[in-house]
Amino acid sequence: MEKIEKMATSGNEELKPVLITDPEEMRRRLNELRKEGKTVGLVPTMGALHYGHLSLAIAAKNETDVSVVSIFVNPTQFAPGEDFDKYPRTLDADLELLSQLGIDFVFAPSASAMYPAGFDASVHIGGVAKILEGECRPTHFDGVATVVLKLFNIVGPNIAYFGQKDFQQVAVVKKMVADLNVPVEIDMRPIIREKSGLAMSSRNEYLSAEERGQALVLSKALEKAEELIRSGVRDVSALYDEMKRVIETAPSAKIDYIYVADPDSLEEMERVAGNVVILLAVRVGATRLIDNRIVEPQR
Ligand code: PAJ
Repeated sequence: MEKIEKMATSGNEELKPVLITDPEEMRRRLNELRKEGKTVGLVPTMGALHYGHLSLAIAAKNETDVSVVSIFVNPTQFAPGEDFDKYPRTLDADLELLSQLGIDFVFAPSASAMYPAGFDASVHIGGVAKILEGECRPTHFDGVATVVLKLFNIVGPNIAYFGQKDFQQVAVVKKMVADLNVPVEIDMRPIIREKSGLAMSSRNEYLSAEERGQALVLSKALEKAEELIRSGVRDVSALYDEMKRVIETAPSAKIDYIYVADPDSLEEMERVAGNVVILLAVRVGATRLIDNRIVEPQR
């Protein structure tokens, strides 16, 4: 957060983001700005902002004329029994952080504004959306694709910023944009981690202090895999075994998947040939965490 504080301009009322909750008003306001030739950057979020989100907001702020952060805990991407109800909602604190960054607009619609009575559409993505998270959470990516397309249609961004933290989500959004000819550039930004290595996530709030320590096995396993690849290991099953060993040192950790794939196609690899992405989903106690690492053996 230190970097954020350095960028802070608090006290300057003019830099407070304009909070908009009505989709039509959001569209109208941005249409006016686009008419003036301004470019628009969008950062879709579900709020409970941390530095991972803020790094995306800073990129939007730096690279486009008008920066928009959307905050919407999207019900359609949560399955019954998932954490929709307990997902942290911290709008006031989020607005405060975004005003320190000088973000222009925060779009925070209600669920009924996004999904009015009678709403009856869904964007379904095949292929990359069916594996990994799609297998563990079969309705998740349809919910994500639907809300992201709605946000794109409301905001009309030139560039939309997403985190590598949700690597498969970026692949799904890119596929939707390509298949449905959506006129937006998708910019994927690096994972922001705590000093310990733990990838920042709003869901880390669910972890007890003890579990937080155990959750470090995700980033440690990924680091170990990179080390092995750099030392010449090419056999993916050897990487799996070693990552499994690291993760199993945490008594509360249960592996959902470990997956080594081509970063472009997300096709699983048996041998490391060229760049790879290693993706993990692990339950630590009752909390499901994901992490990943791109390894470029030639660099
Ligand atoms: P949310 O989990 O709030 O994440 C919003 C954006 O922040 C995503 O693009 C996510 O990848 C990015 N992000 C989260 N943690 C990060 C970290 N540690 N480093 C870098 N980026 C990080 O992802 C969603 O919301 C939703 O699915 C959404 C796209 C908003 C659709 O509802």
